[in-house]
Amino acid sequence: MADVIGLGMTHYPLLAGVDSHMANLLKSTLKDPDIPADLKDPANWSAQARREWGEDEGTAAAAGHRAQLLAGLAKCRAELDEFQPDVVVVWGDDQYENFREEVIPSFCVFAYEDTEIDPFAVLGILKIPNAWGLPDGQSFTMKGAPAFAKALVTDVISDGVDCAYSYRPRGGSHFPHAFANTQVFLDWSHVGEEFPYPMVPIAVNCYGEHVIARQGGIARFADIRRGEDLDPPGPSPRRCFELGHSVGRSIRESGKRVALVASSSWSHAFLHDRGWHLRPDTDSDRRLYDAMVAGDYDAWQAVTAREVIDAGQHEMLNWFCLLGAVDELGLTLDWSDFVTTEIFNSNKTFAVFK
Ligand SMILES: [Fe+2]
Repeated sequence: MADVIGLGMTHYPLLAGVDSHMANLLKSTLKDPDIPADLKDPANWSAQARREWGEDEGTAAAAGHRAQLLAGLAKCRAELDEFQPDVVVVWGDDQYENFREEVIPSFCVFAYEDTEIDPFAVLGILKIPNAWGLPDGQSFTMKGAPAFAKALVTDVISDGVDCAYSYRPRGGSHFPHAFANTQVFLDWSHVGEEFPYPMVPIAVNCYGEHVIARQGGIARFADIRRGEDLDPPGPSPRRCFELGHSVGRSIRESGKRVALVASSSWSHAFLHDRGWHLRPDTDSDRRLYDAMVAGDYDAWQAVTAREVIDAGQHEMLNWFCLLGAVDELGLTLDWSDFVTTEIFNSNKTFAVFK
């Protein structure tokens, strides 16, 4: 029998940058000429949005948002250190990074040896200094667990969930930031030291119809209105839950101490077309958060792919995978926090399942 802990966290790229840039996604959205001017006028925003935006376009509020997120990350790291995992399995999205036009797998297990990762590459492209004051090109070692990863993907495929695997990164792009940020965020106050736990990423095609159409990023409303050349869908929420079940069954037999991590923020403003990319869909997030706290996984499994996309919750497919494993293994929610924001792109949830 294995021993398992489940964790949920964010990999919000702008947390890795300095406060003055934390609202940059919204600042970019406000330059979209096809969003109605009255919606872009802060005078018409919600009380929370106006409070966060303040007189300095979010710089002061960024410190508060950062403090909330660092508290959640510190809690996750403390649980990890107490648990002392043999391996950390992370579900994360690939935003047009490892996977591009050549192939888009629904799920892919990375059976990598130790790999050099470059978590500040995205910030370097955006010309945003990182929060640690380290060089843009600073690299870190992500310890791999290739034998464990191969056994895991073998079990999952044998169990009936077809799943891709990869033995080395594609090159020509930075390491997928969902996983790179997960490591440095869990290592926030020790960055520069070696992260002690081997990591097995499982890439989920969270972006689905938008993965190549929007290259994992922001579309302008002129392009959306013209009609985007959408891609085939990603895996459905229910299929992600089934993958989680299958991973749970494999891990139960592994005899290892395994931490399972869902890495992603919840609704993303820049994917929330109904909300003009101005704010995340907090009502939809809160419904799923309340269901998670209540242990109501039927409610999660009833969510459709269309609902996920319409709410800008694409990246939550990582959490559907985690909750499938939690359900399979009979873990229960030990602690959680739901951090909302109107201006820092996405709501963020932290969770510990034991
Ligand atoms: Fe992401």
